[in-house]
Parts: sequence; structure tokens; C-alpha cells
Amino acid sequence: MTKLIVFTDLHMVPEGNTIIGLDPFKRLETGIEHVNTYHPDADGVIVTGDLVHHGDVVSYQRLKALLDRLTPPLYLAVGNHDSRENFLSVFTETVTDENGFVQRALDFADCRALILDSLFAPPYDYPMTHAGFLCAKRMRWLETELKSAKDAGKPVLIFLHHPPHKTGFTGMDLIKLINESDFYDLVETYGNVRHIFAGHVHRTINGSHRGIPYSIFKSPVHQQPMPFDMPDASLSVDEPAAYGIVVTTEHGLQVHNEDYEIAKRDPAHA
Ligand SMILES: [Fe+2]
Repeated sequence: MTKLIVFTDLHMVPEGNTIIGLDPFKRLETGIEHVNTYHPDADGVIVTGDLVHHGDVVSYQRLKALLDRLTPPLYLAVGNHDSRENFLSVFTETVTDENGFVQRALDFADCRALILDSLFAPPYDYPMTHAGFLCAKRMRWLETELKSAKDAGKPVLIFLHHPPHKTGFTGMDLIKLINESDFYDLVETYGNVRHIFAGHVHRTINGSHRGIPYSIFKSPVHQQPMPFDMPDASLSVDEPAAYGIVVTTEHGLQVHNEDYEIAKRDPAHA
């Protein structure tokens, strides 16, 4: 059994700044305390990108000081709000692939987790950079890892920022992973991906695409509102913060959504 905690879209800002009136530092701080209380035994905490809001070094430094409080080991991915260079300049221990992308394989007893770098930059050419892309180098790395996991008989869990398919929100679907077909063709070739985890949408979404289940979790901060066809992908609302809990089992896995902002109001958790 492997237990992984999944946070996404932390959107850290410099001290004194907020997002729609919400403080990303305080929201994440509560989440970290919740994880340390209930899941100190987790095999890892994986964050699927948008670590900071504006890609700045000050926000990465503030985030690092906070994440250092986590009890389980921490593994980070980057998203469209991140600067790969600034991130690596602060999180200097980060393992990258041979080409400098923030990609790594984590081998647990019963599965292999692959963290992918879907940041379509540099250049940081917004708004195009908000979409996700896995270039040929990153796809080759993925293929190598899928193949060796298959040879080792290990199911694979994929973690990346951008959903590699549509999720139903018109504005977000415009900035999903661009090379969706290439990605799924490769994944289908090896047939050993058990589940895909993404962020980007700031909402709890579960489903399947081309036969592979996926889960997307809420942010600790601002969330994606209805309706589905809102053209402005940046519109956000204040809903309770959450993280995901993934537990592998003998024949599959369980995916839990932990709305920790609600849970802390339960007197039993006081
Ligand atoms: Fe985000």
C-alpha cells in the first residue's frame, strides 16, 4: 500500500497580497497542519503545479519556508503560473530529468509515480504559456519510464499540472495539454497507467478518458465556479480548500477528497 497526499495550485503570493481576498499562505498552512495531524505516515506529498501566482522568487522563498513544515517527503511539479528557472533557484534540491525539466520518477513498493513538467515555457509568452505542452524530450523521458515500469511489473500513476483532455469548462479546455493525442497514444501503447492526476482547473473532477481514470483536486485557495461555458478562465470563487488522498490497493486505488477547511470546523477535530 502506498499513500500519497496531493495538493495542487497553491498560488503563493508575497506577504500582504491576497487572491480574491484569500490568503494563500494561511490556506496552505492549515492544510499542512491537517496533513501532519492525520497523514504523517504518507509516503509523499505531491503538488501538481501553480506553486506560486506570479513566478517570482520572493513567493517561492515564502512557499519553501512553509512547505518545510510538512512531515512526509515533498515532491513538486510546475504549472503555467510558475517560472521553471525561479523555482529551481529556490528549491535547489529539486531532481530534474536529464534535460532540466521538472520531471522525476518515484518508485514505491507497489507502483511508480511519474511527475511530468507540462509548462509550455520559456519563453513566458502569455496567454499561450497558460496551455500545457510536453515536448519531444519530455515525451521521450515519459516513454522510457513507462517502458521500464512495465518491465518491472509496476502500475504507473501520472501527476501533471494540465489535464491532458477536456474537463467541461470551456475556458479551461482552451488551455489544457495541447498535445493530448500524442500523450494518450503513448500511454495506451504501454497500457500500464492506472490513474492520472492533474490540477489547473481548481475544482474536484473525476472521470476517465480513453479508458484511463483521472482525478483533479481543488486548490487550497480560489476555486473554479459554474457555469461550464464561462469564457473567462480566470474567474474564481471562495469555496473551502481541499487536498487529495490517494491510497493504492491490491487491485486498484482509492481517491479521497479532503475538504480540510470544512473538517476543521468539526468539533471532533478541535
Ligand atoms: Fe492554478
